[in-house]
Order: sequence, then C-alpha cells, then structure tokens
Amino acid sequence: MTSESVEIEIPQPATSAPQFTQLFSATRRGARLARLLAVEQLVAWGWPRDSERIDAAALVVAELTANAVLHGRLDGRGFRLGLALLPSGRLRIEVTDPRGERRPTASPEAVEGGRGLIIVDALAVQWGVDTYPPSAKTVWAEVSATRPGSR
Ligand SMILES: Nc1ncnc2c1ncn2[C@@H]1O[C@H](COP(=O)(O)OP(=O)(O)OP(=O)(O)O)[C@@H](O)[C@H]1O
Ligand SMILES: [Mg+2]
Repeated sequence: MTSESVEIEIPQPATSAPQFTQLFSATRRGARLARLLAVEQLVAWGWPRDSERIDAAALVVAELTANAVLHGRLDGRGFRLGLALLPSGRLRIEVTDPRGERRPTASPEAVEGGRGLIIVDALAVQWGVDTYPPSAKTVWAEVSATRPGSR
C-alpha cells in the first residue's frame, strides 16, 4: 500500500483584536469612570501611562463621553464605551448613546461652544457617527497609537 501525502489545511483560530466594552450611567460620574477605565485598559494593553498617546486617547474618550451625557442622554438609559486596537495600529474609540435622532454638529469655524469636537477632530485620524439600530448612534474616533494627532 502506498502512502500519499495529503495536505490538510487546519483552520486557525481567528486572532481577535483586543477589545473592551462597558456600559456606564449617563452622568458626569459615569463619564469620568469611563475615562479612568479606558486609561487602565490601555495600560493593560501595554501603553505607557505617562505618554502622549494615552493622554490623547483619554481626552477623546472624555469629550465623546461628556457629549453622550450632555447631548445624547435619555432618562433611564446609559451610554456604552467601546475600545478596540485595530490591526492598522490605531485605537478605535466608540461611544454609543440612545439619542439616534440628535447628531453631533461639528463646525471647525464654530465661535462659541463646540470645543469638544474640535479637540476630537485634531487628535483623531478620523471620526464619524454611525446609526446604531434601532434608535441609537455611535460616535467613533480612531487615534494613532504611535503618533497621536497625526493624520
Ligand atoms: N452625542 C451627541 N448627541 C447629540 N448631539 C451631540 C452629541 N455630541 C455633540 N453633539 C452636538 O454637537 C455640538 C458640538 O459638540 P461639542 O462637543 O463640540 O461642543 P459642546 O459639547 O456643545 O461644548 P464643549 O464640548 O466645548 O463643552 C453640541 O453642542 C451638540 O449640539
Ligand atoms: Mg462637548
């Protein structure tokens, strides 16, 4: 009996990108907690605590969660923070709030207010808003893990 060598492809488990997601109350305290936990998660992923990139990420988390609490709040509902390290090397920050019908209105020329999204725009490689069915929305921003503020 002759033996033939047969090549079998063994399916490899998909390497999932590091991810973090948590619900918070839609309060200033909830937003503060979200920022603190985001920093701890990034430190757990190996980001140096005293680094420009962790400061940049924390600032984006702070502005997006403050907006979720101030402008995207619905009684009895919280907001959700998601973090993911993308294969591209970027950190994706997602903040989901229940007010899908109210959208961020970023205007770089805004004279009053609108400071938060100007900061996000300056620090993020890109940012945007997605519908989160059925009635919520996710405001997301991707920041460079290597060169914060770079495009
Ligand atoms: N999550 C959100 N849901 C609904 N509207 C939002 C949300 N985020 C931002 N907006 C709208 O976009 C505007 C601009 O947001 P931005 O964070 O730049 O400014 P601000 O929150 O008004 O003031 P600041 O951040 O300077 O304290 C807000 O005034 C609000 O009308
Ligand atoms: Mg704001």
